[in-house]
Amino acid sequence: MVNTIIVFYSLEWFTKQIAKYIAKETKGDLLELEPKKTISKWFMKYFRGWKQVIMKEIPTLKAYDVNFNKYETIYIWTPVWSFIYTPAIRSFIKKKSLKNKKIIIFCTHEGWPGKTLNNLEKEFSWNTIIAKKDFNRRFLEKDIELLHKEIKTILI
Ligand SMILES: Cc1cc2nc3c(=O)[nH]c(=O)nc-3n(C[C@H](O)[C@H](O)[C@H](O)COP(=O)(O)O)c2cc1C
Repeated sequence: MVNTIIVFYSLEWFTKQIAKYIAKETKGDLLELEPKKTISKWFMKYFRGWKQVIMKEIPTLKAYDVNFNKYETIYIWTPVWSFIYTPAIRSFIKKKSLKNKKIIIFCTHEGWPGKTLNNLEKEFSWNTIIAKKDFNRRFLEKDIELLHKEIKTILI
């Protein structure tokens, strides 16, 4: 029985690619969080994304049907936006209160992760955080072998 799920948000592709790789390696399920209102992937993404973070927006997510009771281990994946986790992850946290799970938290960034992992750890404090790790896209997107090696250090 599958007892692992990877919950992630990805605007472009980097976080999504890693989430898919983890799902393959752990034979886990994947839940991609998709806001109903999408953000353009062009330059405006910075402006729109930063605004959402600063305004602490909680975007409405597309509906998903997942019974979290069946999962023991949950991977939470997010890109860093303005030194914190993305608004889609904020929506997930507000919508779903997780307790007594094994949680693994990750973020992808380009050199400025801020306090993303510590903040996420606080949000999931009713659970056991068994690993947390940040992935710097600038180094790792060019070296897929190293990326996979890094990921394997935190798979359970
Ligand atoms: C709106 C916005 C804000 C960002 N803010 C940061 C930041 O504060 N620190 C950082 O290192 N990278 C920042 N980035 C870069 C992303 O975290 C990084 O490219 C990430 O790997 C993108 O993941 P994705 O391809 O799955 O969307 C930002 C990107 C966007 C679009």
